[in-house]
Amino acid sequence: MIVLERMRPAHIPLVLEHEHALFGTESWSAGMYRDELADPWNRHYVVAFDDPDAFAGASADEGPVAAESPIAVAPPDAKTAHRRFVGWAGLMVIGDTAEILTIGTVPLAQRRGIATVLMDALLVEARRRRAREVLLEVRVDNEPAKAMYARYGFEQMGVRRGYYQPTNVDAATLRLAL
Ligand SMILES: CC(C)(COP(=O)(O)OP(=O)(O)OC[C@H]1O[C@@H](n2cnc3c(N)ncnc32)[C@H](O)[C@@H]1OP(=O)(O)O)[C@@H](O)C(=O)NCCC(=O)NCCS
Repeated sequence: MIVLERMRPAHIPLVLEHEHALFGTESWSAGMYRDELADPWNRHYVVAFDDPDAFAGASADEGPVAAESPIAVAPPDAKTAHRRFVGWAGLMVIGDTAEILTIGTVPLAQRRGIATVLMDALLVEARRRRAREVLLEVRVDNEPAKAMYARYGFEQMGVRRGYYQPTNVDAATLRLAL
């Protein structure tokens, strides 16, 4: 069972363990994540855990919330004994525009629907905050991510030449109307 929680500063070391493997030269630092988490008004970050015991012995009120739920947030004191960290994602919403700032699934957990759970949670949050559109940038050579966004109906708006440095790779800018 995949459960999501709001990302807290205590989760940053878990994220950083995988950040470089997933994002290479575009990796974020601990300080960048701390700055993001310091702005809960415009930001919404979630972390995903694979938790086989998610509902063992817990009532609906006190256990982690299933990822399928529109809320998709486990309480901070949820039992953590057997959980495995599997991914994270972050959203910014300003006015009626949301932007997906990051999304990643740890390598050993990829292709099992975890980013789909994370994306669904970000889109629920974007709608809850009354965003009318979601924007993002993706490396033009990132086929897995481009396939995922296409499945959600994102459409390409343009290309930012050399957006990713120092690799000098272009970014495709994508948009999804909500
Ligand atoms: C892109 C990424 C987040 C997908 O995570 P994931 O948990 O493996 O994704 P899911 O299992 O939910 O798959 C969702 C869809 O993405 C697409 N996809 C994911 N991995 C793919 C791959 N290796 N090849 C082709 N399509 C892929 C598919 O359309 C898939 O749907 P399907 O399995 O029904 O065909 C993951 O590959 C990753 O972390 N990459 C490195 C970080 C990154 O590039 N983030 C995005 C930056 S813009």
